[in-house]
Amino acid sequence: MQWMKIFSGVDAARGKLTENKPRLLVVSGKRICVVKQGDTIYAVSDTCTHNGESLSKGKVNHACEIVCPWHGHIFSLKTGREYQQRSTDLECYPIKEETDGLYIGI
Ligand code: FES
Repeated sequence: MQWMKIFSGVDAARGKLTENKPRLLVVSGKRICVVKQGDTIYAVSDTCTHNGESLSKGKVNHACEIVCPWHGHIFSLKTGREYQQRSTDLECYPIKEETDGLYIGI
């Protein structure tokens, strides 16, 4: 796994991410959907495993899940699992905070 810097710090990340609003980042050629919920930042694959829609166009619910805007499959931001297992799990990416920035493990 390679750690890639995505923000210059936690404050920068908080300034650029809106609570519960998915944001698309492209890191090392991978499309990543990033969501801030409270003090936690989640990162999952942006490509819906059902039929490829961009999950960063979706909505986040109170159960820490992202809802695909196309056919409504619902994926946990914590585990990547679709709650009814109608489609395969999303890939989840770890986030870590260092003194010089916020990193994602790719
Ligand atoms: S493409 Fe996401 S639910 Fe169908």
